[in-house]
Amino acid sequence: MKPSVYVTRAIPEETLAALRAHFDVEVNPDDRALSAGELRRAVRGRAAIVSLLTDRIDAELLDAAGPGCRIVANYAVGFNNFDLAAATARGVVLTNTPGVLDDATATHTMALLLATARRLAEADRFVRAGKWHGWAPLFFLGQDVDGKVLGIAGAGRIGRNVARKARAFDMQILYADAVRNEAFERDVGARMVDKETLLRQSDFLSLHLPLTGETRHYIDAAALSRMQPSAVLINASRGPVVDERALVAALRAGTIAGAGLDVYENEPELAAGLAECENVVLAPHIASATRRTRLDMGAIVARNVIKVLGGEAPDCCVNPDVLRPRG
Ligand code: DGY
Repeated sequence: MKPSVYVTRAIPEETLAALRAHFDVEVNPDDRALSAGELRRAVRGRAAIVSLLTDRIDAELLDAAGPGCRIVANYAVGFNNFDLAAATARGVVLTNTPGVLDDATATHTMALLLATARRLAEADRFVRAGKWHGWAPLFFLGQDVDGKVLGIAGAGRIGRNVARKARAFDMQILYADAVRNEAFERDVGARMVDKETLLRQSDFLSLHLPLTGETRHYIDAAALSRMQPSAVLINASRGPVVDERALVAALRAGTIAGAGLDVYENEPELAAGLAECENVVLAPHIASATRRTRLDMGAIVARNVIKVLGGEAPDCCVNPDVLRPRG
């Protein structure tokens, strides 16, 4: 009998075919995220689970899956939905999909930055509403991007990729990170600064931090108050990195000029008042949503599941302690 794999929501057919070549694969037939209770029932007795960033993988879920569960493969690079300790304690390997979505996510970040600076979403709404009556000199003035300071919070693969793309606009790069990256500094002429300087000096501040206890509300009311009134905040990392209520207050008060957001604190809900702010561009968590990227993410997921259920180490394990021989 083939091992049983549960996929919590439809993913590309090519990924499912790769899994079906080795395993009995069942996919959630509904195009919606499952509730915690539904998920617990669905995973019972599975050898592997392919999860989404919206599925909480914790002790309860792993116990519901049972002792035969060997891997949970996230169809995402972010893995803040995983309880790493609970999985490691149960010998369950957790994997993600690093590397393949850097370009798509960085391109989307630049799209948000440019759209926010040049008020594209607002302009689009204006034209569609039939309010446009012709060219005018003082009409829809936006912000310059060329030569401006781009602050990168988190100079991991995606943050660095954004900086490289921003250099095409002659942007000056500042970054804040726990670790200095001299190769990155040489590559794009970036300068490492502390958070305070990043907040105060960035014309555009782009967040590329994983969501952890430390990065939750990295941008809160106090941080927003240190930014320039002309500054624009871009977030394509994880919603809770920004205190969304504080952001709405800052956008309303003119503490900062605008924001381009792909992610939200309580997706798919928006903080009260956010959708009414004209100076924000809102996207529905689609930074990695290109066909090639989603296929590449799927290929990593399938390879990880095949390897782990075949007794090998996966390519990208986020709880590597689980792979160490137990004493
Ligand atoms: C991820 O992979 O973490 C993104 O948020 C979705 O692709």
